[in-house]
Amino acid sequence: MSVTVRVPAKVNVQLAVGAARPDGFHDLANVFLAVGLYDEVTVTPAGELRITCEGPDAAEVPLDRSNLAARAAEALAARYGLSPDVHIHIAKDIPVAGGMAGGSADGAGALAACDALWGTGASRDELLDICAELGSDVPFSLVGGAALGTGRGEKLRTLEVGGTFHWVFAMAGRGLSTPAVFREFDRLGEGRDIPDPVASQELIDALAKGDPDALGAAVSNDLQPAALSLFPELADTLAAGRAAGALAALVSGSGPTTAFLARDPESAAKVAEALRSSGTCRTVRTAAGPAPGATVLGG
Ligand code: C5P
Repeated sequence: MSVTVRVPAKVNVQLAVGAARPDGFHDLANVFLAVGLYDEVTVTPAGELRITCEGPDAAEVPLDRSNLAARAAEALAARYGLSPDVHIHIAKDIPVAGGMAGGSADGAGALAACDALWGTGASRDELLDICAELGSDVPFSLVGGAALGTGRGEKLRTLEVGGTFHWVFAMAGRGLSTPAVFREFDRLGEGRDIPDPVASQELIDALAKGDPDALGAAVSNDLQPAALSLFPELADTLAAGRAAGALAALVSGSGPTTAFLARDPESAAKVAEALRSSGTCRTVRTAAGPAPGATVLGG
């Protein structure tokens, strides 16, 4: 018997970052929107815990215990006194090391799949606790839709979304390390007073109304200057998308994927085509949000 869970990528429509905390993390006001690019995580009972992966970026996915999917299986098994002996297969469509929470998606997907396979009866809150231990973005991958994440991003409040938002994503030719981008944020802010992160009410209202123009005017990412400092060529990608009529162009999370909001599917296709021919990125994908969180398929 196998269980397959489909789990979405995300874009951060607002990422407000506070000063570094004593534990090294940063307090955030992190507005997540799940988008329709998915990984599928299948778990099957096996002699020992192992991971396989297929998809365009599969070669870049770690297949050892550092993979969040393996850590999710181990964490759930440990909590219920079970053995984590499953084969986890990841059909990967979310770009790797991109700022789209692909690794977090696989963690949440494996957790939901193992939970269904083993019939633990864990409550939603217990699963969310395990997600938060695995990483700051993992709880949102389980929940999907749109949410405001506070603390280090793991404390979620669901947000209403009143329409469909059309996005274009440009994948860069190399990766960016999330800790390195946060360190660069700290370095750029040295000697400056960093205000506490606050969610934008304007942005929350734009999501609730489903208004792409208002959302485009309200998006922001405090990590963008740090990502651009480490990866200056991303400015060319952002400029190419803006020139093609995107309502907003921003680095997604810690990057290096860049995200472009379009008014409708037609203008998304136009922005995607312009980015493809700009020569400033590796691949281009379109996706709409919100998308549902981790979902057991065919069950
Ligand atoms: O929580 P997660 O493992 O995804 O975080 C990866 C890294 O990103 C952390 O080790 C830390 O350097 C940085 N981070 C941070 N503040 C956050 C979330 C992540 O500094 N709120």
